Amino acid sequence: MPKTPDYFQGKTIVITGAASGIGRATALIFAREGANVVAGDIDGEGARRTAQQVEQMGAAALAVEADVTHRDQVEDLIEQALARFGRIDFQFNSAGSAIRRSTFLEIDDDLWERTYDLNVKGVFHCMQAVLPHMLEAGQGVIVNVSSMSHKRGGPGSSVHYASSKGAVLTMTLGVAREFADKGIRCLSISPGPINTPFQATSQTSPEQVAKFLADVPMGRFGEPEEIGEMVLFMCSDACGFMTADTVYINGGGGWR
Ligand SMILES: NC(=O)c1ccc[n+]([C@@H]2O[C@H](COP(=O)([O-])OP(=O)(O)OC[C@H]3O[C@@H](n4cnc5c(N)ncnc54)[C@H](O)[C@@H]3O)[C@@H](O)[C@H]2O)c1
Repeated sequence: MPKTPDYFQGKTIVITGAASGIGRATALIFAREGANVVAGDIDGEGARRTAQQVEQMGAAALAVEADVTHRDQVEDLIEQALARFGRIDFQFNSAGSAIRRSTFLEIDDDLWERTYDLNVKGVFHCMQAVLPHMLEAGQGVIVNVSSMSHKRGGPGSSVHYASSKGAVLTMTLGVAREFADKGIRCLSISPGPINTPFQATSQTSPEQVAKFLADVPMGRFGEPEEIGEMVLFMCSDACGFMTADTVYINGGGGWR
């Protein structure tokens, strides 16, 4: 929650991965607070559905089909956001995926490159595109999505993914510290298992679900809104002295 009740009214957030899961939930939370929401996603139809939901809640929205692995499409996303709303106060980079699961020895170059293109280069493109505008405005908050997996390394199924999320964490740290005296804050969130289509693809059997849950002391998956509310706090004026760090949201688990 912000310190100032109407803090988000008329401010603008650009969200990637806004068609689904954590990105969409965050879009609706910012809509609740009266922010303008720019919903970017490679899934243009899904982005439009999110934008419609935002508008139904009485906030302004713009849907943009954009693949974050392409620098020109990310620049277009930022330009469209500025043309429509004249300002970008916050950026939430949620687009990301493990592409597919694989044991370490079976990770081929294609899987490695696609994973890093999306999770690492995608976030790199988004931050490079938005920062000049935030610097001109002398303020801005960027929130990236890392993962609890960066602590665990993804043995047996997702070293490619876990290591890419480690890179997101490190990029966040560097950008935060480089621009800390320019009014910019940059943070990351490291979720444990959250109920989204992304998580559903790893729940290949009841045994697999039980294995995930056994590692969460709260005994349940998180909900995407439980990440979105943290994004809201991080972007708010209640969080002014916090930058560079990651926040773990995982029901107490994920350390095994
Ligand atoms: N759900 C979890 O358990 C969990 C845990 C830790 C981290 N995460 C991270 O959270 C973020 C959001 O995941 P989610 O669970 O909401 O997944 P999701 O699959 O529900 O949503 C991901 C969204 O990203 C979009 N996307 C994929 N490739 C894209 C591209 N090239 N350009 C633009 N958009 C693209 C998809 O279309 C989709 O709408 C991801 O970065 C994921 O790695 C998720």
